[in-house]
Amino acid sequence: MCGIIGYFGDKDPKNVILDGLKKLEYRGYDSAGVCILDDGKFSRFRAEGKLSNLEEKVKDKQFNGHIGIGHTRWATHGVPSERNAHPHKVSGVSIVHNGIIENYQSIKKELLANGAKIESETDSELIAHLLSIALEDTKDLETAVEQVLPKLKGAFSIVALWEEEPNKMVAFKDGPPLVLGVGEKEILVASDITAIVSHTKDVVFLEDKEVVIVNGTDYKILDPRGNEIHKKIEHIDWNPEAAEKQGYDTYMLKEIFEQPRAVAQALEPHIDIENQVIQLQGALGPDVSAEEINKRLAQVERIFVVACGTSYYAGMVAEYMIEKMTRLPVEIEFASEFRYREPVLPPKSLVIVISQSGETADTLASLRMAKEQGAEIMSICNVRSSSIDREADYHLYMRAEAEIGVASTKALTCTLAVINVLSATLAKIKGRLARDEEVALIQKLQQIPAEMEKVLVHDKFFSEAANSLKRYKGFLYIGRGLSFPVALEGALKLKELAYLHAEGYAAGEMKHGPIALIDQDMAIVVIAPKDDVYEKTISNLEEVRARGGQVIAIGSGEDEVLKDLSLHYLSIPEGDWRTNPILALVPLQLMSYHVASSLGLDVDQPRNLAKSVTVE
Ligand code: AGP
Repeated sequence: MCGIIGYFGDKDPKNVILDGLKKLEYRGYDSAGVCILDDGKFSRFRAEGKLSNLEEKVKDKQFNGHIGIGHTRWATHGVPSERNAHPHKVSGVSIVHNGIIENYQSIKKELLANGAKIESETDSELIAHLLSIALEDTKDLETAVEQVLPKLKGAFSIVALWEEEPNKMVAFKDGPPLVLGVGEKEILVASDITAIVSHTKDVVFLEDKEVVIVNGTDYKILDPRGNEIHKKIEHIDWNPEAAEKQGYDTYMLKEIFEQPRAVAQALEPHIDIENQVIQLQGALGPDVSAEEINKRLAQVERIFVVACGTSYYAGMVAEYMIEKMTRLPVEIEFASEFRYREPVLPPKSLVIVISQSGETADTLASLRMAKEQGAEIMSICNVRSSSIDREADYHLYMRAEAEIGVASTKALTCTLAVINVLSATLAKIKGRLARDEEVALIQKLQQIPAEMEKVLVHDKFFSEAANSLKRYKGFLYIGRGLSFPVALEGALKLKELAYLHAEGYAAGEMKHGPIALIDQDMAIVVIAPKDDVYEKTISNLEEVRARGGQVIAIGSGEDEVLKDLSLHYLSIPEGDWRTNPILALVPLQLMSYHVASSLGLDVDQPRNLAKSVTVE
């Protein structure tokens, strides 16, 4: 939930660190700070609020050292303020921290009893105090870290500096991600590769309880027992430009418009155009055949899908689609519930975990719990080598490239594309997808990118209608079948971007209470593509119209019935029930984007949110 970075090298550390923090700002933006070596001392600057406030503070500062650390914060302990901003400095020790120290109260009590002067309200500052005390005995940072690590409970990624060893940086993690970037004449440590990839594409992903000691441009990695280990250097095939805005006002708008290409990329590995075959590929690694994958999946007798937020709604689509196509029982659950409710996982259970970041704490914890109970794990992630990706048995990828906007868009539509491939593969294994149905589905999937281009034209409508839409006192998003999770996601987008009250509801549930909310100040967003529950949804809509609800409808083609019931009607191409959700999401993304923009809000970094929720 915070972004941390450390740098040693021949470039100007201030520029490298500030640029890295810009790439990491989506992880949290309540405050920011740097600590950079200057004339043998670590010079610290911090600022409340966005990174731009810190940039303003240090714009005329020059530092003559080659090493430094930086931090952009999502507040957990202590309000957003300069006093609580990282880096925290105690004597000659400076640290940046991502995560939560769960036993900070007992640590703080002991430190205060021993006379420590604690400046901030944070748990992170205590780590600097512990290191400073340990250094009085050890006289070297590496040993001090080894002494302090066992005292910390919780989830943390930390980078530490000490003025007595100005060329050394020690980093360690237990939970939130930490990546080492190994350059020609430079070494970086950061929360994720977006801060590293413009300097080097050679990276090492650290595992929990590993410690990396950077000394000049050399480094060594210790395992949890303190033994030096040699880890594989991975080459990242990301182009840094992909993470830039490329002419769009915001990352989010860029990512909405990238969806046609991203969805095509998500589908590409699994569809053999020449032979018109759809088949999950690569799920067990590049050297395991599709036959082997299918043989293993054929053993599955029950499926659980576990995720958070937008990824959970993708999981609902998976639940409906896999059950309908394979007749395998599927259960969807919020990760934050699944990990604590002691679910019963029968033998031959497959747990599918969906996570764009691959680092969401609740989802990772659910994965580990299910694995302990003997379930096989299938991950659908966007970030390769993320914690969830690494710990799963089957690995599926959204292939959406960098998604920087905190509100997830292209990662979701890519996930739905992958869920289509997975459902079809499972259905074929169960002998429930006839050859002609397979070919027809491939045709529909192959048309999706072009159809998404058509739906993106609604951008103009919403940019003009946004002002009128924001006047409603509330928004009810309703749908049936696969349009129900689409409704839930549409409501989440408006909540998290425009801070307006919006609620997603099963259309058939309206008459059991929510219909009492309806009047002319309430907007009803109905998702009603032509599918097997279309007529039912229309009758729900007529109940709403009769009570004065103002209807914004998403429908298939030129649907005159729906148009007559709607104040605004937006069409998506006539589709297949399995691909309708991918298309119906686009106008909902555009609606929330433009309403939030018309309110002057920051759509890339909505208040109180972070892109990767690595704490519970
Ligand atoms: C999506 O718009 C939200 N920002 C949030 O709900 C997100 O989907 C959720 O935190 C899960 O993240 P993950 O996919 O990285 O696990």
